[in-house]
Amino acid sequence: MITITVCIGSSCHIQGSYTVVTELEHLISRNNLTDIVVLEASFCLGNCTRPVSVKINNGPVLAVCKDNVKEFFDEYIVKKLSKSII
Ligand code: FES
Repeated sequence: MITITVCIGSSCHIQGSYTVVTELEHLISRNNLTDIVVLEASFCLGNCTRPVSVKINNGPVLAVCKDNVKEFFDEYIVKKLSKSII
């Protein structure tokens, strides 16, 4: 199980956390990963200067925006899962 946590604190909200959450929901569904990937919201992840803050499981806080959310998903979720299956 992979948990993606998206910050919905005020700084990240202003910078588009709703759009990032919506796009991640679509990507999870489109890739048939609803049984493997869980999406959670969180308040401030302590990285307000680089919104939108996102982390995978207990990993580092990453900066994701509407322009790179698909790239983020492919790099950190799809690739990770394909490596664990091989
Ligand atoms: S409000 Fe998102 S990291 Fe602080």
